[in-house]
Amino acid sequence: EAPSKNGENGGLLGLSSEEYRDAIGPNASEGEPTVSITVVGASGDLAKKKIFPALFALYYEDCLPKHFTIFGYARSKMTDAELRTMVSKTLTCRIDKRENCSEKMEQFLKRCFYHSGQYESEENFADLDKKLKEHEGGRLSNRLFYLSIPPNIFIDVVKSASKSASSKNGWTRVIVEKPFGRDSESSAALTRGLKQYLDEDQIFRIDHYLGKELVENLSILRFSNLVFEPLWSRQYIRNVQLIFSEDFGTEGRGGYFDNYGIIRDIMQNHLLQILALFAMETPVSLDAEDIRNEKVKVLRSMKPLQLENVVTGQYKNHTKGGVAYPGYTDDKTVPKGSLTPTFAAAALFIDNARWDGVPFLMKAGKALESRRTEIRVQFRHVPGNLYKRSFGTDLDRATNELVIRVQPDEAIYLKINNKVPGLGMRLDRSNLNLLYSSRYSKEIPDAYERLLLDAIEGERRLFIRSDELDAAWELFTPLLKELEEKKIAPELYPHGSCGPAGAHYLAANYNVRWG
Ligand code: NDP
Ligand code: BG6
Repeated sequence: EAPSKNGENGGLLGLSSEEYRDAIGPNASEGEPTVSITVVGASGDLAKKKIFPALFALYYEDCLPKHFTIFGYARSKMTDAELRTMVSKTLTCRIDKRENCSEKMEQFLKRCFYHSGQYESEENFADLDKKLKEHEGGRLSNRLFYLSIPPNIFIDVVKSASKSASSKNGWTRVIVEKPFGRDSESSAALTRGLKQYLDEDQIFRIDHYLGKELVENLSILRFSNLVFEPLWSRQYIRNVQLIFSEDFGTEGRGGYFDNYGIIRDIMQNHLLQILALFAMETPVSLDAEDIRNEKVKVLRSMKPLQLENVVTGQYKNHTKGGVAYPGYTDDKTVPKGSLTPTFAAAALFIDNARWDGVPFLMKAGKALESRRTEIRVQFRHVPGNLYKRSFGTDLDRATNELVIRVQPDEAIYLKINNKVPGLGMRLDRSNLNLLYSSRYSKEIPDAYERLLLDAIEGERRLFIRSDELDAAWELFTPLLKELEEKKIAPELYPHGSCGPAGAHYLAANYNVRWG
């Protein structure tokens, strides 16, 4: 058997503290384990915007282990105090706005430290290792590295960190941020590179959409309610729509975005992950491997996307209400004449017994009229509908539609037909509505909170396994190559509009109207 790369006592991933002690002998009883979390790229945007605030929220909710330390690591020169000042500006008391959480913030900041170093330097990571050891105080050491850096330096960091700063007696895990490559080949190369230094079960590939409350709820909705699962097939479902729209452009991230485009940025990962969870068969159990096995089966049952089933768009400048909104290529970090799509719509099909012939329509775009992410399930017509006259010629209006609104204003609602109360016989479309803000008083955690906690606890259910990633890229790589090789020009749409008209024609080819 190949030796594990998970520290000297490899194979200890995911054990409880008691199991650790049993596994590594009597000396382990000296104390409870520690967790050291190193945010690599701590000076960057994601660290400030998401990672530190999520760690604070977990601390505030008493979800972090008793002994934990957080280290920021990056090339920028900063003292511990400067890091704390930087982090403190990003923390909010959003969890319980009535309670003054400044005391908790102080305590949290005292557990944050900074180490400046180069990403490819084993020596610099060895210095970090020394500091981590001081904080661990001889206890069992578990270490989590969060790679919040551009992907071209992932391997350098993993190499140096695994050689010089991995745990010697506990687990070492690495959270990897997207993008995981640009296509099948670069993604496979990245995986090969990571696996030179890490085992697959040490790699936590993040897709933060899997940490969103309503995406996690999909499995509960389907598998713990009798009323939905029997309808969840081609027999009753006409089409499924996965919609992502943002009402702002790529401001500030044009440099990154231009190299990727909306298909890689949103469709190949966030929307495809939702699709897989939506369409998978019942897993054998809630175990991470069982769930991921079912997701892979869905992805492998799909045909790679064809150019004729895809429409691309790019936003152009537009003046509304006296305000001028810039076009995508007005951004100084975007090359003039760029053909990178900021919008795409696509029709996908799953060739299996459950979904044969059902169009799964995806739409993703930046600088559109609103910000929303939704799953819309349009059901078939009622056969021999007694009331069809009440709907005139537009029978599609009479079909049921289930909407799962992932964000904002999280909700699940079902459109049904109902009699308008009174002596007449008028029908009305109404919603059976579960609006989260009315039903649940507790604030919904940010996706990064859930995912960080899962990584600390060794729960892999919401992270992407390498075969899932390969299957996802296989679906999109031929299309992406064709778009680039043929230099397909995206259809321009005004900033703040509902996107290019081509998306409507695409849907109409499948008798679908976007919800
Ligand atoms: P940044 O561009 O802000 O980079 C993070 C840090 O990495 C920087 O502060 C810098 O630190 C270092 N760095 C930046 N460029 C280079 C370079 N060319 N060579 C070496 N070091 C560099 O990235 P983000 O924080 O925005 O994102 C981090 C990761 O997360 C990326 O992979 C990104 O794609 C992904 N991501 C980001 C999202 C976001 O909203 N920001 C959303 C989803 C994913 P220093 O100079 O101090 O070493
Ligand atoms: C990221 C994309 O993965 O998700 C961004 O790179 C996008 O372009 C972001 O804006 C959207 O995430 P959320 O959680 O704000 O919907």
